Amino acid sequence: MHKPVLLHEVIAILDPREGDFVIDGTLGGGGHAREIIKHIGKRGMFLGVDKDHEAIARFKDYSALPKSSFFMEQSNYAYIPGILKKNNMPKADGLIIDLGFSSYQIDDPKRGFSFHSDGPLDMRYGNSGMTTEEIINTFSEEKLIDIISRYGEERFSRRIARAIMESRKDRRITRTFELADIIKHAYPSRFRHGRIHPATKTFQAIRIAVNQELENLEKLLSSLPDIVNSGGRVAVISFHSLEDRMVKRSFKELTSSGKAEILTKKPIVPRREEVEGNPKSRSAKLRGIRFI
Ligand SMILES: C[S@@+](CC[C@H](N)C(=O)[O-])C[C@H]1O[C@@H](n2cnc3c(N)ncnc32)[C@H](O)[C@@H]1O
Repeated sequence: MHKPVLLHEVIAILDPREGDFVIDGTLGGGGHAREIIKHIGKRGMFLGVDKDHEAIARFKDYSALPKSSFFMEQSNYAYIPGILKKNNMPKADGLIIDLGFSSYQIDDPKRGFSFHSDGPLDMRYGNSGMTTEEIINTFSEEKLIDIISRYGEERFSRRIARAIMESRKDRRITRTFELADIIKHAYPSRFRHGRIHPATKTFQAIRIAVNQELENLEKLLSSLPDIVNSGGRVAVISFHSLEDRMVKRSFKELTSSGKAEILTKKPIVPRREEVEGNPKSRSAKLRGIRFI
């Protein structure tokens, strides 16, 4: 069962009212979306965006709103300004962005997000762009080190990149188990059996690279004034310190230029009970602003 992260806190920040237009840029399992739709009611308008066809297909028949005010778009959230323009939609009263992957994506071995089950090396949220397999088998050693150390903050990035280069000399690396095994054996033996699996940070790093997650977030943050109207609110949940830093910096710029006010002095993090019930929420950080 998919549990939306920081649900009550997101609703408190967005404060969706009867008749509002709200955009969910990362629809996923629709957990936040369902709650938002309850608040905006039948007179409200909703746009759900996700790169993943499956997220859109699952939610498109959700019937709590009339068809004329319920919109779904399989797209990158970085393209929301274009989606609004194309469909002659107004700026929104609220925007939620809940970064990263959905539980149904990581639980499906065919998507290649997890090293706990064997699957093809894919990890794309959508169906375009480079896969993990292409990155792992074609990028230079320096580039792999850079990705693994920067996005994964992995101390053994050099050893891991070297091991990947050695393995791919023999044959193309194509499966999640294969890659996880290469990473595990690249770790010094005394670190191989720690609390977290040696492949954790590298898989996270490659996922970020495959989906150009930081580039997309940067595009979205710089176009917020084109998406949200005055009085409108934005909530962003991030799971990585690099993302949270970008959100913090961008919100600060918007407030110091007088365009918005901060709703969260410090990022909101899940309570202990939430983390116990949903370990994935552990590293979540929620920030919010309101446009003036
Ligand atoms: C953490 S989940 C969202 C969960 C959702 N809030 C819920 O309550 O069910 C993140 C979703 O964002 C999507 N996603 C990631 N990057 C995206 C991007 N650049 N554009 C659109 N969707 C993206 C993923 O496909 C995934 O479904």
